[in-house]
Amino acid sequence: MPRRGSPTLSDLVALGGGEGRESASRPSAGKVWLVGAGPGDPELLTLKAARVLQAADVVVHDRLVAAEILDLVPAGARRLYVGKQKARHALPQDDINTLLIGLAREGLTVVRLKGGDPFVFGRGGEEMLACRAAEVDCEIVPGVSAALAASAGAGAPLTHRGLAQAVTFVTGHAQHDGEPLLDWTALATPNHTVVVYMGLSTAPRIAERLIDAGRSASTPVAIVENASQPAERRAVTTLAGLPEAAAGFDGPVILIIGEVSALASAPLTAHPGEGRDPDPMELLVGIPGARLAKGAALYDLGPGVRGDERKKESNRGMQGKRS
Ligand SMILES: C[S@@+](CC[C@H](N)C(=O)[O-])C[C@H]1O[C@@H](n2cnc3c(N)ncnc32)[C@H](O)[C@@H]1O
Repeated sequence: MPRRGSPTLSDLVALGGGEGRESASRPSAGKVWLVGAGPGDPELLTLKAARVLQAADVVVHDRLVAAEILDLVPAGARRLYVGKQKARHALPQDDINTLLIGLAREGLTVVRLKGGDPFVFGRGGEEMLACRAAEVDCEIVPGVSAALAASAGAGAPLTHRGLAQAVTFVTGHAQHDGEPLLDWTALATPNHTVVVYMGLSTAPRIAERLIDAGRSASTPVAIVENASQPAERRAVTTLAGLPEAAAGFDGPVILIIGEVSALASAPLTAHPGEGRDPDPMELLVGIPGARLAKGAALYDLGPGVRGDERKKESNRGMQGKRS
């Protein structure tokens, strides 16, 4: 499977469909399926996505698609890795569009498999529009987006009566001078959950801008890395503590900023599945460089403890731990 290196567009089109799938049995017009692979847990793949994958002649996939899901690709189908890691694209987006169209025009059933949902920060819209412009049939199969898996894993609902009446998905991807182009005033509204994709490296700037725009520095923040996967790690901190806590992660990470993160029953699970309930005080322990920042509260002390009490107990606990 060509996961590394930079294949050229003509290399990839020449590879075409998998062995044993004769063009005589194919319909004359192919089709592109833009399929959401979900956040990584194979059980979060939809039944429809699994069915479409089984019918693929060729699967064009990204970096964040889990190996277990790629294992569902039929043996006779070709897998083409066109992955993306921040700015390091194995294949530029225009070439990916051309590739999909070229393969479909060969009469192939093309599955474009993307992490999470294709229409949530996935450039699925661009691929759909390219297919439309080329008059290539294109259908979208939604997937479980990373934010939903992060929220579920952390036990922090994205909306919750009395805590969040709205949720906004934003990209933390830096535009100019390391600064995400966002409406900070709108995002600073209380009782509003802000979910940040691609925001790990810009977390300090995001925290600073939100606080400057009026969001309380004690607003809880859940950090969820590798949501739904065996390597999932989580921490709960505050906007003030976010820069320090974020430094202990290397992504992919979702930030859940808002009052709802006070509900997270999500202690650090550096090694989930070991069959133990970690001490809530371990939330930040074990994350290199992450300590409770000055002025920050640690919210998670487990079920049955309300936010304010958690904060007090948390601070007491941390003091006890330090002494
Ligand atoms: C290019 S976006 C793709 C988002 C994807 N289309 C979705 O709906 O989840 C990549 C970003 O999604 C987030 N992400 C994707 N999978 C994740 C996971 N399993 N856990 C945490 N964050 C994830 C990270 O913020 C990552 O930088």
